[in-house]
Amino acid sequence: MRRVLFFALILTGFLAACTCGARVSSRVIQPGAPERPAGQKDVLQLTTEPLSTVRVAFIGLGMRGPGAVQRMTHIPGVEVVALCDVLEENTKKVNAQLEARGFPKAREFFGDTAVWRQVTALPDVDLVYVATDWVSHARIGVQAMKDGKHVAIEVPAAVSLEEIWALINTSEQTRKHCMQLENCVYDFFELTCLNMTQQGLFGEILHAEGAYIHGLQPYWKEYWEDWRMKFNRVHRGDVYPTHGLGPVCQALNIHRGDKMNFLVSVDTKAVGNPDFIKKQTGEEVKEFRNGDHTMTMIRTEKGKSILIQHNVTSPRPYNRLYQLTGTKGFANKYPFEGLAFDTEELEEGVVPDHEKLTSHSFVPRRVMTDLMERYKHPITKDIEDLAKRVGGHGGMDFIMDYRMIYCLQKGLPLDMDVYDLAEWCCLIPLTELSLDNDSAPVEVPDFTRGGWNRLQGLQFAQ
Ligand SMILES: NC(=O)c1ccc[n+]([C@@H]2O[C@H](COP(=O)([O-])OP(=O)(O)OC[C@H]3O[C@@H](n4cnc5c(N)ncnc54)[C@H](O)[C@@H]3O)[C@@H](O)[C@H]2O)c1
Repeated sequence: MRRVLFFALILTGFLAACTCGARVSSRVIQPGAPERPAGQKDVLQLTTEPLSTVRVAFIGLGMRGPGAVQRMTHIPGVEVVALCDVLEENTKKVNAQLEARGFPKAREFFGDTAVWRQVTALPDVDLVYVATDWVSHARIGVQAMKDGKHVAIEVPAAVSLEEIWALINTSEQTRKHCMQLENCVYDFFELTCLNMTQQGLFGEILHAEGAYIHGLQPYWKEYWEDWRMKFNRVHRGDVYPTHGLGPVCQALNIHRGDKMNFLVSVDTKAVGNPDFIKKQTGEEVKEFRNGDHTMTMIRTEKGKSILIQHNVTSPRPYNRLYQLTGTKGFANKYPFEGLAFDTEELEEGVVPDHEKLTSHSFVPRRVMTDLMERYKHPITKDIEDLAKRVGGHGGMDFIMDYRMIYCLQKGLPLDMDVYDLAEWCCLIPLTELSLDNDSAPVEVPDFTRGGWNRLQGLQFAQ
């Protein structure tokens, strides 16, 4: 009898193989996580000595850096003490603007790509603010922390797993903050939706989408030494994921009760950027690694899915998507801001058009305005007007800087920690790995090394 069963099983397997012809092999790529060095512990909820005055040094004063210097001058208890750029004219221009607005001149550092070493070594600096090209970010960040400074680094703060682990290990060893300057989490719609999520308006968020879709043609020639196009030339994958991923990771409580388990990436061939180079320079580009459109799907430990997209060349309107799909509601930011709910979710009396709402259409404008006002995030309440006046992408950049300084002055944990930085940047190397292996699934390392479930939910310190 056992022998009959055995042959029946073999026969079934053989027939199944014949019918579909498919071969299955397990090919999840596991980048792994290095052991935490002895004597080192995580920096979840890191608190530091309060700083009544925060002395800031800026490194990188191209298109992005000068705006950060200007914003900081609107925050009480901040001193701009040093300005650094490879180019003398960039440093001098920003210093002249400071002086013209009645602030003391900062010390200037310029001349070459290594001059920043003098800045991180300065004894009278508390925070180093980095807005250079991507490949210099992590190196400067690691050294700044080793030199005893907190560090804030523009997006993406790291472009390889080695850089990510170096920033994590250095922050854990030195107990210094290492924050990525991800401004999009502070946009008003995202913050209000985060508050709505935390108040349960959308039920359980099951799926979220984010993107960076932005034709960069007007900017390409402005980047110092063409660093951005050079990076896209040699790197396949989502090379700018943090604007799309940051806000949705916050809504999904990534490393605060959930974690990203694996991703799969698919891209198109590269057409737009090689064509652009040809038009500008006449060069016939033989190999351009970054596809015009890259899509990445992520699955989390708690059964959620995320879709992230990258496209910096197609003739499409700017779009970061920002969509949250919950069991009871839905939020959408681009191309227009809209909310949809199960009728049961909305309280009687609060929403005038209650009877007409269905989960298949956006709530009427009037209702939307009412909800947006009612669920405004507490951190924006006192500073919304000032943020809109000072500006920086409509005010979100100011809220980001303001919150960082507020927390440093009070010694509170920052809104974004080094593990957020790691999770949002890791798509750069991991999507490249997936694409170079026929879209194989790639495991996302647990950058907290075991701490992802200790905090339950994201909370901004007050
Ligand atoms: N968060 C946002 O919305 C946003 C917007 C724009 C740019 N960014 C980020 O800001 C960073 C800078 O971008 P950008 O548009 O200003 O680029 P940019 O090329 O205009 O400026 C970079 C500057 O860094 C300087 N630099 C380069 N290497 C240096 C070094 N080793 N030491 C000192 N200075 C150095 C260059 O001289 C240049 O002035 C990038 O990471 C970019 O992704 C973020």
